[in-house]
Amino acid sequence: MRQHDHEDFDVPDERPARRRAQAARRGRLAEPTRSGRLTEGERVRLAKLREDAYTEARLLPEGTDRWSTWDDAEHGPLPRPDWVVTELAAADTDLGVLKTGKEADVHLLRRGLPDTPGTLHAAKRYRSDEHKLFHRDAGYLEGRRMRRSRENRAMAQRSAFGRNLIAEQWAVAEFAALSRLWTIGAPVPYPVQRNGTELLLEFLGDDDGTAAPRLAQVRPEPDELEDLWSQATSALELLASEGLAHGDLSAYNVLLHRGKLVVIDLPQVVDVVANPGGLEFLARDVRNLAGWFHSRGLGEHVTKTDELLADLVSAAGLG
Ligand SMILES: Nc1ncnc2c1ncn2[C@@H]1O[C@H](COP(=O)(O)OP(=O)(O)OP(=O)(O)O)[C@@H](O)[C@H]1O
Ligand SMILES: [Mg+2]
Repeated sequence: MRQHDHEDFDVPDERPARRRAQAARRGRLAEPTRSGRLTEGERVRLAKLREDAYTEARLLPEGTDRWSTWDDAEHGPLPRPDWVVTELAAADTDLGVLKTGKEADVHLLRRGLPDTPGTLHAAKRYRSDEHKLFHRDAGYLEGRRMRRSRENRAMAQRSAFGRNLIAEQWAVAEFAALSRLWTIGAPVPYPVQRNGTELLLEFLGDDDGTAAPRLAQVRPEPDELEDLWSQATSALELLASEGLAHGDLSAYNVLLHRGKLVVIDLPQVVDVVANPGGLEFLARDVRNLAGWFHSRGLGEHVTKTDELLADLVSAAGLG
């Protein structure tokens, strides 16, 4: 039962005469209400107690760095994997840097309710500092439209505001690309959320926080190499079927997680039909990735890059 139910129904009415007398007294003496009879000192003490209780309730669980940002973020596609932590009472802990890059820093982040192991994420934070220049700002954006011209101007002038907008644009673009590709079953990390310039992604790695290696760091046996190439071509074909090229594909932007290739780093994904250089981006992706396989000993009669490119062109509807 709510507390005021008790007051509403169980306490007998005060008699009208008494109420009138009280009202008169209040008017004459300007006497405050019952709670107002507290001395100033008591009032201050009570207010402080209430404030302390409030602050205490909002105190972060020990060892954590912030409350979960889930509520304010753009969320990943449905159906949501069951490991995604959606409780607002969860907190985030930054477990350190996985990698600092030219355009973004990737941190290991744990999100969970107090006293639970929580879930690991890769937190990719785009940087907007003055010295960083996106090597991807140029040709990639052709064929994409931005409507708001005030923001276009800010970005062109690269004011602090503009730089932050550019960084956020890349975060938005990568989140959209990951969401779209995850939905069609492409091997990409599940995009959990985007908030400003930060993406939270499924962490590819072990429970102890060791990240999956980049393809560039591994030396697979011949059998495995062939299997990995076949996984790579399937991924490229899926992208092409969506009319997309990765745009910066290489053995550095592919992770090897439990025997599976996972494609990462997709902010510059290219719409090969709208972008006048679409075909060249597609060809370069194939060249770069096949180049690594060749360097590890896979024969060109296996990779057959000309045939692959022709397939991708037709899958993308360009041929
Ligand atoms: N989901 C993930 N799980 C585990 N590790 C990840 C994940 N995403 C990124 N990383 C690690 O962070 C590195 C950088 O990520 P990414 O390539 O997306 O960012 P980047 O800033 O473009 O980096 P670079 O400039 O090196 O290309 C990756 O090479 C990988 O080691
Ligand atoms: Mg990268």
